[in-house]
Amino acid sequence: MASTTKEVSAQPTNRIFSGVQPTGNLHLGNYLGAIRNWVTLQADYECIYCMVDLHAITLFQDPVELTASTREVTASLLASGIDPKTSIVFNQSQVHAHAELAWIFNCVARMGWLNRMTQFKEKAGKNRENASVGLYAYPNLMAADILAYKASHVPVGADQKQHLELTRDIAQAFNSAYDVDCFPMTEPLIFGEGTRVMSLRDGSKKMSKSEPSEMSRIILTDGPDEIAKKIRKAKTDPLPLTASPEELEERPEAKNLLGIFAALSNAPVAEIHQRYDGAEFSQFKKDLIELAVAELSPITTEMQRLLADTAYVDSVLRDGADKAAEIATPIVKEVQDIVGFLRP
Ligand code: TRP
Repeated sequence: MASTTKEVSAQPTNRIFSGVQPTGNLHLGNYLGAIRNWVTLQADYECIYCMVDLHAITLFQDPVELTASTREVTASLLASGIDPKTSIVFNQSQVHAHAELAWIFNCVARMGWLNRMTQFKEKAGKNRENASVGLYAYPNLMAADILAYKASHVPVGADQKQHLELTRDIAQAFNSAYDVDCFPMTEPLIFGEGTRVMSLRDGSKKMSKSEPSEMSRIILTDGPDEIAKKIRKAKTDPLPLTASPEELEERPEAKNLLGIFAALSNAPVAEIHQRYDGAEFSQFKKDLIELAVAELSPITTEMQRLLADTAYVDSVLRDGADKAAEIATPIVKEVQDIVGFLRP
């Protein structure tokens, strides 16, 4: 076996890749669950952050909105503290390596593996015959995103864990089919508590941009008045707050608001539960509004500024795409050589 093993480029040990779909505005759940962690990771890793527009069109996107959302989501990342001088920030379609490697992975991944993907089943719904082929092959593209950079780590929420496992299966299958040690076994980075933000209208549902009511989520362009209004109107129940974990399990709205408070103040959830044990919602909400406005206003103000300066945002994406391609293009060439594609 070893005699045929080809020389391959090194596998980095501290390279992060993550992606976010440029569809609509980012909300508090995206911020507390992902983006804020991405900001922290910059201190210890080489970070590559991608607006995954190729993924976005697996469900039809209005072209004008897709362009606008790509800039908006980029602006939210920058406003949240992602520094384009230290991290690579770009949109996926500008770097050809993603689509090229995805095709090769379409030929590595097995139908049986994709048939197990729960996200496809959820997104395709009842009418699976009518889902796009892209939606089905989505996880292969995600594997290509990660492996085009030989990323060592990917920060993932629970909903993407299965896709990361598939990425490792693809890496393994490729390495073994071609008898090479080309791709790494990328590790998930999972963050602690306080990452699951629920709807402000229904504590049993995740905060989501697809929920019809705008009152269900705080978005990163909301000003202080909107933030205050959404928190004031957030669904509660008639009882005072409690620190009892069992009781909070039965009271998802209370649990969610306390969780948001803990996340925004960077405190352990249990500490916030204790602090407000027995308090009325009215007092708690006042404090939460003050905290949320203080924490989020700098971001929303900076976002407004960036949204008015599309030339700057575009220049960040252009630069980012150049830097991304510098890493990914040689890796894809290496893969093409391994596969036996002639590059005369
Ligand atoms: N599938 C991810 C999501 O919907 C987005 C994504 C695409 C991604 N490519 C990625 C995340 C690579 C991590 C790594 O949230």
